[in-house]
Amino acid sequence: MPQNQHSIDMDKIREVAGRLNAFSRILVLTGAGISQESGVPTFRGKDGLWKSQRAEDLATPEAFAKDPVLVWKWYDWRRSLIKPLQPNRAHYALVDLEERIEVFSLVTQNVDGLHRAAGSKNLIEMHGTLWRVRCTLCGKTSDNREVPITIPPMCEACGGMLRPDVVWFGEALDYEGLTRIYQLLENTEMMLVVGTSGVVQPAASFGLAAKRSGAFVVEVNRSKTPQSPFFDVSLDGKAGEILPRLVSAITYYA
Ligand code: OAD
Repeated sequence: MPQNQHSIDMDKIREVAGRLNAFSRILVLTGAGISQESGVPTFRGKDGLWKSQRAEDLATPEAFAKDPVLVWKWYDWRRSLIKPLQPNRAHYALVDLEERIEVFSLVTQNVDGLHRAAGSKNLIEMHGTLWRVRCTLCGKTSDNREVPITIPPMCEACGGMLRPDVVWFGEALDYEGLTRIYQLLENTEMMLVVGTSGVVQPAASFGLAAKRSGAFVVEVNRSKTPQSPFFDVSLDGKAGEILPRLVSAITYYA
């Protein structure tokens, strides 16, 4: 079987579905892998964005200060690539899961907006979104889906330069969002960690934090990650194949 292709382990799926039925507080963390089947490039791995480009040149406050036009061109390219893309079966499976679970929360590192487009409600976009801009002068934020965007875009309120409302390397995460996430990690009974390489902090430590608080933690990924050995179950395969099966199995075994 070629690398990264897996037969789905239905015994594991049934085991995880049984747990999902038994618990009422579920937290899901997603990364770029969940959007891969929609056509969104991931960051690491063979065709990852960071193979051809350096994060330091494009996704840091220093890069923006040095060359805002270059940074905006890159974001404009990503926005134009992602705008026509649709959520996939994995995003929709999480919407179905949210409807079935009493207390369901979804934390995503993705900035592509696909969870929102699919209809997820209790959602924290911890790295921001490509579809909002923020003024570097007055701090005002606004939704913006313009593609191509005028580069560099300027604030209508104060004339300052706008930036993408995303979190760059070296920047702090939104304090309220992060506080909420740590509350969820302390209180969740079960966590799914989906399509993330588990190397960028603080998200990389969320699964372990939930485990320390006693949660049952399941990874869904088509490759092993540095965190895999610490989780309770690893479901190997594509999120778009695993998650819908998991949701069907919950219904079947309820
Ligand atoms: P990565 O690109 O680092 O990792 C993607 C993960 O998804 C890998 O572990 C792949 O094995 C897995 N994967 C790929 N396709 C999959 C599929 N169809 N189904 C399941 N798994 C799949 O992306 P992230 O972990 O999200 O941060 O990266 C974390 C952060 O690093 C991003 O939010 C971004 C980036 O630099 C900032 O920009 C601040």
